[in-house]
Amino acid sequence: MKRVLSGIRPTGDIHLGNYLGAIQNWISMQDQMDENLFCIVDLHALTTLEDVKNLVGNTRIMAAAYIASGINPDQSTIFVQSHVPAHTELSWILSCITPMGWLNRMTQFKEKAGKQRENACLGLLAYPVLMAADILIYKATHVPVGDDQKQHLEFTRDIAGMFNREFKKDIFPLPDPIIKGPATRIMSLRDGTAKMSKSDTSDYSRINLMDDADTLALKIRKAKTDADPLPAQVKDLEARPEAHNLVNIYAALSGQTADQVCKTFAGSYFSTFKKDLTDLVVAKISPIGQEMQRLLKDKGELDQVLSRGSMRANTLAETHMQEVRDIVGLLKPDEGVNRTRQMDVLKSIA
Ligand code: ADP
Ligand code: TRP
Repeated sequence: MKRVLSGIRPTGDIHLGNYLGAIQNWISMQDQMDENLFCIVDLHALTTLEDVKNLVGNTRIMAAAYIASGINPDQSTIFVQSHVPAHTELSWILSCITPMGWLNRMTQFKEKAGKQRENACLGLLAYPVLMAADILIYKATHVPVGDDQKQHLEFTRDIAGMFNREFKKDIFPLPDPIIKGPATRIMSLRDGTAKMSKSDTSDYSRINLMDDADTLALKIRKAKTDADPLPAQVKDLEARPEAHNLVNIYAALSGQTADQVCKTFAGSYFSTFKKDLTDLVVAKISPIGQEMQRLLKDKGELDQVLSRGSMRANTLAETHMQEVRDIVGLLKPDEGVNRTRQMDVLKSIA
């Protein structure tokens, strides 16, 4: 059974990094898997409350982005994390076997907590445990993500193995991280050493899926580069992070390797390359943005997709959650209940 699960936080404008690093791989896997689950991880968004604006609106925007990018809601389950309570229930159980040392070592926690470690909230520290629960509650086998999630997926595998050993049951498969393509880490357009991110304060640092053609062109024109021509081989771009990033974006959007792109543009200056890149970005991204705008006009239809998704996700998650409750040894709510006596009690209070 090959089952995919992945998710994005509804914290702001969905951008090219999310699309190339994650969603594009989801789409290419959609036909090859037995089951696909794509989650909008709203509870994870709460770990950085400062980034949370209009959670309801952003959740629908994310659903529209998934569909407009090519996730077919009749083939894949699109749902909201907080609509499936089993995620948080499993997260608690997993947190009871998670060594604190593992969490303290997580780079994302260290980056986000910064110097304020003592004041960082518990949710930020426990973030990887909830992410592991998102994956393991469905017994997902494949998790397509960007490069920044590598450590969280290693953690998920470690905790799955630990649970299986602790309770002597092979319940959780160890999920395979799928981190592939030339765009596993798209960088900011203003700083080739920083990841393109929803939380960057400068909108010029990223390409948003809902940017119109003029904005896309302006952002690419303003993107930081250098005065040298493009080399014939990508290895010669190692010390030029901004230039390397634009070549990677071109490669990922055109389905080529970065080396092929370098070969085509060898000797050209960025003024020329940026024009071609703009045409490509507009051709690939504008239709997605327009489709998102169209989908967002009918909130009822989007909510219907999410409601159907949550039904499927809940059914699967609850089946697995019952197995987990059994394995850890929790009393079932109706275990040992005498049905006839229960009916009598119910009748007497009716
Ligand atoms: P952000 O970091 O922008 O808030 P998320 O943390 O919600 O985005 O990431 C959702 C998915 O998008 C993850 O699979 C993540 O690895 C991927 N992703 C995010 N930013 C990038 C990027 N700059 N390049 C490639 N993939 C990215
Ligand atoms: N942590 C991921 C990110 O920041 C988002 C996420 C939460 C996720 N749960 C997940 C990704 C489960 C894949 C699978 O990008």
